[in-house]
Amino acid sequence: MDRTYWENYYKKHSFPAPPSLFAEFVSREHLNPGMHLIELGCGNGRDSVFFARNGVSVRGLDQVEAEIEFLNGKYAHENLEFVAGDFTRLVPSGTCDCVYSRFTLHSVSEEDELRVLKWAHSVLNERGLFCIEVRSVNDPKLQDGDRISPHENVVDGHYRRYFDLEKFKDRLIGHGLKIVFAEERTGFAPYGSEDPPVVRVVAQK
Ligand SMILES: C[S@@+](CC[C@H](N)C(=O)[O-])C[C@H]1O[C@@H](n2cnc3c(N)ncnc32)[C@H](O)[C@@H]1O
Repeated sequence: MDRTYWENYYKKHSFPAPPSLFAEFVSREHLNPGMHLIELGCGNGRDSVFFARNGVSVRGLDQVEAEIEFLNGKYAHENLEFVAGDFTRLVPSGTCDCVYSRFTLHSVSEEDELRVLKWAHSVLNERGLFCIEVRSVNDPKLQDGDRISPHENVVDGHYRRYFDLEKFKDRLIGHGLKIVFAEERTGFAPYGSEDPPVVRVVAQK
């Protein structure tokens, strides 16, 4: 159901918008030119394009094939490539310095998330970073739509699974990662009139 939602969304929002505040934070605090980064769920590529313009080699993954094709045509550059596919089914191959995931892990099941954590640990170089921003259990949106569990709902056909910061930190640690930054607050991802508390974590191998 979510795939159709995003296919329709990018028909109207195909061009990269300005980068997210999270991308600016990660770039400022943690990235250097020449690093290799994989973005999970790059959408219209706004953060991938921003990282690449700052000298980082980027591979952006998303399930929306038409958008990936559009981005590859528009942003063909030696340090930027877009690949279509399901980021929960990745097979480890090669390594990278950073796995970046913004507003994507809350749209997959817990089982799929665990597969992603395992994959991220296996592809990260020593001291490589896994940077994640996701919706929180304290987000008022959890009260909307159809509640399918204490921390999952479906709003207008759009599935979301809201994150508990402490539990998520424990899961990352359980997958061999060290927490270097973890905070939940408003101001991380304001959108229009909305500014919900959002979970932001940087973990290191
Ligand atoms: C909320 S958007 C975020 C886009 C981008 N990260 C940003 O912050 O602008 C979620 C994106 O994740 C993608 N996505 C969700 N589940 C996916 C999956 N299993 N595999 C690949 N892409 C997925 C959707 O197609 C969508 O583009």
